[in-house]
Amino acid sequence: MAFRVTVRPTDHAFEAEPSETLLEAGLRAGLNLGHGCATGSCGDCRARLLRGQVEQAKHFDYRFSDADKQDGWFLMCSCRAVADVEIEARETGSAAEIAPQCVPAKVSRIEQLQDDVMQLTVRTPRSGGLQFLAGQSVELAFDGMPAKTLAIASCPCDAVQLRFHVRRRAADPFSGFVFGDLRKGAPVTLRGPRGDFTLDEASERPLVFIAWESGFAAVSSLIDHAIQKDENRSIDLYWLSAIPRGHYLSNVCRAWRDVLDDFRYHSIDLEPAGSERIADVAERVVRVHSLLADCDYYLVLPESAHAAVRGSLRAADVPPEQIRASLMTHP
Ligand code: FES
Repeated sequence: MAFRVTVRPTDHAFEAEPSETLLEAGLRAGLNLGHGCATGSCGDCRARLLRGQVEQAKHFDYRFSDADKQDGWFLMCSCRAVADVEIEARETGSAAEIAPQCVPAKVSRIEQLQDDVMQLTVRTPRSGGLQFLAGQSVELAFDGMPAKTLAIASCPCDAVQLRFHVRRRAADPFSGFVFGDLRKGAPVTLRGPRGDFTLDEASERPLVFIAWESGFAAVSSLIDHAIQKDENRSIDLYWLSAIPRGHYLSNVCRAWRDVLDDFRYHSIDLEPAGSERIADVAERVVRVHSLLADCDYYLVLPESAHAAVRGSLRAADVPPEQIRASLMTHP
């Protein structure tokens, strides 16, 4: 039987199974609960029990003062709920609140999604995942290679296993390394997280995502996070590609469409691979959505496409605070 956990002062709530810690349950529910080591050492997941009961589920080394204990302080990564509870806890609201981290990790999986796109899964030690917000990037440093910053394609609810998408490009030594010499088990250092292309958690407006080719990585993290949060917002995803077979994870998009009530996936082939022009697509997408509702727009686009979409948004009087963008240097 799951217990209800209400977090103050945000009033966010989630269900916690008796088999999981409060931190695991909160992250699974899509909350950005402040934490660090996840193993009971750093104290970053300190929370205060206001009502109900928790019990220790895992060993921890962090030391509370007697006064702290009397005030009800405990560690979310080490305790589970044994009744419905109300707790006071820190939730990360913005990218600026997350401290820079340097995390040793290993490549745990290399999957060729298609001829020219690889998906890497990188695993950190259980004792120290990477804390990040959906939509952020991180620098990956392999021995002997210049470091590369990539968007994290997975949801922050799993801080230990992170996914990345790498497209093969002739002039890019990093993609040459990934498609050639990289092997499972290779050590890699993660530094970050970086960027503020994150979800506006306070908004309840419909979401419109416009992603270009491998810009889908950051958008998939945002959509997974919105799903984890059980957001009751309508979602439209426009995935644009100017190369053949640029929509390399359409199956994932169709799975979202099948399980979500209010999700639409639009796969668009731009010229020269397809027949659509970016200016026409931008004008059409913005016209349709600005007529229907007041939306939040999330754009991951190269500069020229970004200028076209921005122009259409400005023409439709969409307020700047409802537009979040990440510029791609290499589609
Ligand atoms: S996250 Fe470090 S003690 Fe809980």
